[in-house]
Amino acid sequence: MDKRERYREVASHIRGLIAGETDTIAVMATVAAELFAAFEMFDWVGFYRVTAPGILKVGPYQGGHGCLTIPFERGVCGKCARERATQVVPDVSALSYHIACSSSTRSEIVVPIFDARGELRAVLDIDSDQRAAFDGVDRDCLEALARELAAAFT
Ligand code: SME
Repeated sequence: MDKRERYREVASHIRGLIAGETDTIAVMATVAAELFAAFEMFDWVGFYRVTAPGILKVGPYQGGHGCLTIPFERGVCGKCARERATQVVPDVSALSYHIACSSSTRSEIVVPIFDARGELRAVLDIDSDQRAAFDGVDRDCLEALARELAAAFT
């Protein structure tokens, strides 16, 4: 099964599981678990929530422990929050601002999550131990999933 097809399958599974759910923690926990289980190259999947101006706090995740707090001015997650745009990093060792929670992480993607009013509410962070694990397909499919989550954040 190709990657896009796998994303389609996971998205449809997630849609079924979270239908009618308005509790954002329940939704984030379900999304993290489903994505983590679906792709072997995903070694950390989780959310950082905007809990105060300029502050991201870790939310539901799967994988080893993540840092608890990331200010907007730090890390790939912070850059995603600041720029309100997806970050794809093929080689984290090439980035001075990357926050290494696990020394085995080689690449990552971070996608912004907005509510229905366009407010940034969280970022979805996925890390891989493989170099260049993420491409345009991951970006497209995860951004589509993020758009579907807007309702649960409203
Ligand atoms: N990849 C993130 C931080 C790692 S996590 O805490 C799992 C960053 O540089 O923003």
